[in-house]
Amino acid sequence: MDPGKIDFYNLGFNFIETKEMYVADYKNGSWSKGKMEPFGPFEISPGAGVLNYGQGIFEGMKALEAKNGDLVLFRPVENAKRFNESAKRMLMPTYDEDEFLNAVKNVVKTNKEYIPPYDSGGALYIRPVMVANGPVLGVAPADEYKLIIFTVPVGPYFPEGFNAIDLEISREYTRAAPGGSGFAKTCCNYAPTMKPAKETKAKGYAQIIYLDASELEYIDEVGTANFFAVIEGKLATPQLKGTILPGITRKSVLKIAEEKLGMETEERDISYKELFNKSCSEAFCTGTAAVITPIGSVTLNEEKRVFNDGEPGEITVKLYDLLTGIQRKEIEDEFGWVVDV
Ligand code: PLP
Ligand code: COI
Repeated sequence: MDPGKIDFYNLGFNFIETKEMYVADYKNGSWSKGKMEPFGPFEISPGAGVLNYGQGIFEGMKALEAKNGDLVLFRPVENAKRFNESAKRMLMPTYDEDEFLNAVKNVVKTNKEYIPPYDSGGALYIRPVMVANGPVLGVAPADEYKLIIFTVPVGPYFPEGFNAIDLEISREYTRAAPGGSGFAKTCCNYAPTMKPAKETKAKGYAQIIYLDASELEYIDEVGTANFFAVIEGKLATPQLKGTILPGITRKSVLKIAEEKLGMETEERDISYKELFNKSCSEAFCTGTAAVITPIGSVTLNEEKRVFNDGEPGEITVKLYDLLTGIQRKEIEDEFGWVVDV
């Protein structure tokens, strides 16, 4: 799409075609030298591993225009590392971290006319994706893979923006089971969440809070973001035990809460019942796309808990200001998280 035709001030989280993408192919046991190509379709065998058995992984990152006009990435090496952890779980080839970072920077530079301006609050979302394009018939890893990195200009993931969202706790659907692939960013974890998301949206909720698949008691995550709550004044988030995506925003928020707000943090099992107690004063979710999205209420069947009259909580707002301030170079990046493109 012609960048001149894009309303950068009213973007949502929808696909918009940009100019170029990065492509590398894995054949005969090694990666080709990656190159930039015009954005567009490619041929794929109907027998491709990804089409038949879902052997595919992806990442999500953002390039932002900082306050001083610099183009910046947030902790991109963490994405490179997680991409490789996902690849290993799905028996796919890994990709060199330095090449990944260079490729991401190249994609951003080539598509820089699509980066929403600083004052729009938008970002250029970067989507690295790797798929098995080699044909297979038996359930086994393919011999050939394709890595593509493309970009899309985006605004907020939830149309509510920084306004609080209403979530439904599901004791019907689960997202990931112990021993499964919940910690990996594989396509297979997302397709099954579309039906629960559609059903909950029809009831007026923005998303589902998934509980652990064994006991249907402890919070896992929010389907597209990690979960946090302030309980007894401490910042609590579900511990990583293989069923939750280890979010980069999650890790950053824990650090900011400890170091900048002097808060005590806990990574532990959080029963959904705790959210209905007075001792739980705020809740929010975190992610590259979701940034920090306040949770206004949680509902399980007929029982609803509203936080803060549906307004963003005090700690949520402080964390949001600190995180986005660091990301946009409005405040000092003392942790060394921001990388110039
Ligand atoms: N959980 C899921 C299922 C996600 O898809 C995402 C988004 O990437 C997150 C959590 C948040 O992770 P991050 O903060 O690294 O974007
Ligand atoms: C992200 O936050 O980058 C995600 O991947 C969430 C969703 C768009 C899948």
